[in-house]
Amino acid sequence: MKMDVLLGLQWGDEGKGKIVDVLAPQYEVVARFQGGPNAGHTLEFDGIKHVLHQIPSGIFRSQILNIIGNGVVLDPIILKKEIDGLGKFSIDYRKNLVISKKATIIVPTHKLLDAAYEQSKGDKKIGSTLKGIGPTYQDKIGRSALRIGDILSPDFKDKYDTLLEKHKTTLSFYNYPTDKLEEMEVQFFEAVEFIKTLNLIDSEYVVNGALASNKRILAEGAQGSLLDVDFGSYPFVTSSNTMAAGACTGLGVAPSRIGEVFGIFKAYCTRVGSGPFPTELFDETGEAMRKEGNEFGSTTGRPRRCGWLDLPALKYSIMINGVTQLYMMKADVLNIFEEIKICTHYELPSGEKIDRLSFEITDMEVKPVYKTMKGWNCSLADVRSYENFPDELKAYVAYLEKELNVPINLISVGPDRIQTILR
Ligand code: GDP
Ligand code: IMO
Ligand code: MG
Repeated sequence: MKMDVLLGLQWGDEGKGKIVDVLAPQYEVVARFQGGPNAGHTLEFDGIKHVLHQIPSGIFRSQILNIIGNGVVLDPIILKKEIDGLGKFSIDYRKNLVISKKATIIVPTHKLLDAAYEQSKGDKKIGSTLKGIGPTYQDKIGRSALRIGDILSPDFKDKYDTLLEKHKTTLSFYNYPTDKLEEMEVQFFEAVEFIKTLNLIDSEYVVNGALASNKRILAEGAQGSLLDVDFGSYPFVTSSNTMAAGACTGLGVAPSRIGEVFGIFKAYCTRVGSGPFPTELFDETGEAMRKEGNEFGSTTGRPRRCGWLDLPALKYSIMINGVTQLYMMKADVLNIFEEIKICTHYELPSGEKIDRLSFEITDMEVKPVYKTMKGWNCSLADVRSYENFPDELKAYVAYLEKELNVPINLISVGPDRIQTILR
């Protein structure tokens, strides 16, 4: 059996959580492989809306094993809160949720360091979620981080203190206040005691064992391909490999074992945080998109920047991920527009038109070149089959498929599970 991967092709918040929840009945395992509480994955069903940050989005399906993989950076305090928040759903999390002992721990000082680094960058700040993601991955790669398995060791506190001393030196260099630290540490050690009672495992054996016994696994990406640390708009990226290859290192699965790669994209674009966004709209059209799409961050509540669909960026993401199926989200948000634009190329300051994301492009002022299509301008709220789509939406889908060369097999027309049209 092969492992399927589901990931975002834009700057995050494409609707990954919704689709993992929709697809979950076809799988036996759902696994997160990178990122941490910077993610906010929203699920809506039976009139309930729920946002998950670190727990995989298969948690509401009782037959599914949910794995937090080794590639994840995990905040014990936030995990405890998330699990407490599941209380009303009668989920057997000690059975349905397991955590890799090799996942990296976010300690309180990582969050302070995240804030200190951002403050020191002034107007060049990344717009981080301030969840400590960058500093934690820095320590992982720098070989000084703590891992989930360490909390079971009798000398965990000593290891913690060693890391703490290192962080304090840096915080004092940045002159960053640590007066909140004591209170954060109390919460942290309480949460660590709680995590000790959960199912902590060598998840690479569980994942590979599941594949060997023909169980179906879905790897759930966080963030989006344009925030990938290697291929995103560096330095305005997150600190992990958000692309399909990250599912291999983040779970211990060989590349030859990857099956379908589901690429999720919005019918337009959004971005939170700083960094280039060629099709961003600063006018009433952008404002209308934000309002209609309720484009406010699931993790930080920040308003999301909005703009038209960017084909060069989408083609790039499809290429680096080897996407086999496309899923288009939030088509309903475009209901309100009489005309819909799609960026086909970028015009460089020299006048040259390109459709590649070259190294240089991050630092350039590029002008999007648009194709304009007629909007459908009607509600999709009650449409439940592709045949009943308005012709203009069918034309939009057909144009994208021709340009992207990958089938669009699912179109989402609202946040609820049932507002999902499979072709
Ligand atoms: P994720 O991070 O990729 O899981 O996405 P988020 O949950 O951060 O953001 C997606 C938002 O769009 C959530 O509020 C979803 O409930 C909502 N959503 C998902 N699909 C659709 C859709 O097809 N139409 C509309 N209007 N909203 C959607
Ligand atoms: P999901 O999984 C959207 C953005 C932040 C910032 C940059 C770096 O819900 O799609 P970080 O905290 O990772 O150091 O921030 O990445 N970012 C996201 N944007 N959705 C996310 O996750 C994001 N996770 C991080 O806004 O620009
Ligand atoms: Mg999100």
